Amino acid sequence: MDDPPPLRSVRLLRARVPEGARYPFDVPVIRRLDTIELNRRVCFFVGENGSGKSTLLEAIAESFGLGREGGSRHIRHDTTDANASSAPLAGALRLSWARKLLFGFFLRAESFFNLATYLGEDREMLAQYGGLPLHRQSHGESFMALAKHRLRPGGFYLMDEPEAALSPQRQLSFLLVLDQLLAASPDTQFIIATHSAVLLALPGAQILSFDEGEIAEVRYEDTAPYQVLKACVNNRAAFMERVLRPAPDPDPD
Ligand SMILES: Nc1ncnc2c1ncn2[C@@H]1O[C@H](COP(=O)(O)OP(=O)(O)OP(=O)(O)O)[C@@H](O)[C@H]1O
Ligand SMILES: [Mg+2]
Repeated sequence: MDDPPPLRSVRLLRARVPEGARYPFDVPVIRRLDTIELNRRVCFFVGENGSGKSTLLEAIAESFGLGREGGSRHIRHDTTDANASSAPLAGALRLSWARKLLFGFFLRAESFFNLATYLGEDREMLAQYGGLPLHRQSHGESFMALAKHRLRPGGFYLMDEPEAALSPQRQLSFLLVLDQLLAASPDTQFIIATHSAVLLALPGAQILSFDEGEIAEVRYEDTAPYQVLKACVNNRAAFMERVLRPAPDPDPD
């Protein structure tokens, strides 16, 4: 985990931002993006819904040559143009590598169903995913099959909310798979967007917050997933009282 990451930085080349550009260049964190320095082989993106994590993750994936909807360099199964407007961002990013990685995978929980459909019952392709058609397994089972069989040491892995498929126990199993891949090669690297306090707990990871309209490094204890979970489980009754019966605004307008 202490080895320097193969991908060292991600920079937005302002000269490549189109004139009068709207989405994705109007997303506050993208508007203010200059250079992100990656200093660990696992980097988590955290932040409120809509803060821009998926937008940047997709653009990094595309810039590396992975399909926006997920998959490896060989699998491009984009089924929608809904995010096609994020494509110019990929073209404006400069990825700086200490050691250029040759393979990787972009895993999006949202489009995992489409990946499963794409693979179908094709035995040859399924061999890389543990052999069983993904649609004949539960969401979490198929996700873990992919994590265990498809991810190899020395790859560049981008994941968008992998916890969406996983129970808390399976999230821990997923961290174990991740740790083994990191230990097996100094070139394994992950960038993971997440809302999970369990995943974020991985020791030695870099955590970048997308809140307050800019990307900044934060400590685990300062992340919202950790703070909300902690407040909730430490004193559930009082916390829920505050959430469900907030004090009336003394100065209503
Ligand atoms: N195709 C699109 N066209 C226009 N705006 C978009 C598009 N996709 C996303 N947005 C907007 O860009 C902003 C960032 O969205 P993004 O999906 O990157 O957020 P996120 O941090 O991944 O959120 P979440 O935690 O909910 O997944 C949001 O305000 C969203 O509404
Ligand atoms: Mg997202």
